Amino acid sequence: MAKLRVAVLISGGGSNLQALLDMCTAEGSPAEIVRVISNVPDAYGLERAKEAGVSTTVINHKDYDGRESFEEALHQVLDSERVQLVCLAGFMRLLTDTFVQKWKDRLINIHPALLPSFKGLHTHERAIEEGVKFHGATVHFVRPAMDEGPIIVQACVPVLPNDTPEELGKRVLAQEHKIYPLALKLIAERKVRVSGEKVVYNGVDNLMNSAINPEG
Ligand code: GAR
Repeated sequence: MAKLRVAVLISGGGSNLQALLDMCTAEGSPAEIVRVISNVPDAYGLERAKEAGVSTTVINHKDYDGRESFEEALHQVLDSERVQLVCLAGFMRLLTDTFVQKWKDRLINIHPALLPSFKGLHTHERAIEEGVKFHGATVHFVRPAMDEGPIIVQACVPVLPNDTPEELGKRVLAQEHKIYPLALKLIAERKVRVSGEKVVYNGVDNLMNSAINPEG
């Protein structure tokens, strides 16, 4: 089967991008990252892409009059690469409903919380403030409402007594680096399907034990 052609959109450090690059450059990977796009010109993730030999494009939102023209530029690049799946990896721009609808079920995001809890920003601070005992990360298909959409994979971590947002965030990020490549692999292997706004898996055995267990 031909490799799934993937673009990754970033705004920052790109540690999740790195996890995706590592998965895609491993032998026998079912997916290939064909382009990394950043809306921030000096995002460190661009260096990671170059290091991995992946072409990069900067589309700085500040150079555009509005969201539509910014997204039109995004489209052009995605079309030119015949991209089949877009991964948002710390991409900190809201996308319009039009863009999201166009890429329905071909656009995924990673969010640093157990959705539907803690949508938006400062998720680790808020988890500690609320006193939840478990926190985590979610990979989901993107829908027009922010941080909503069918959940593909989640991982959870305990919130420890005296946790700081930084310590908790590090623990969550380590899980993000496991579940984002896993979600991409499942999609690229055609093992994920959206049915009634829920994700169902086809032909996946032992997902919990093999990939999500933090000790695994
Ligand atoms: C990650 O924690 C990701 O979940 C989060 O930004 C960070 C990016 O880190 N994304 C969001 O908050 C999106 N709403 P990275 O650049 O090192 O991958």
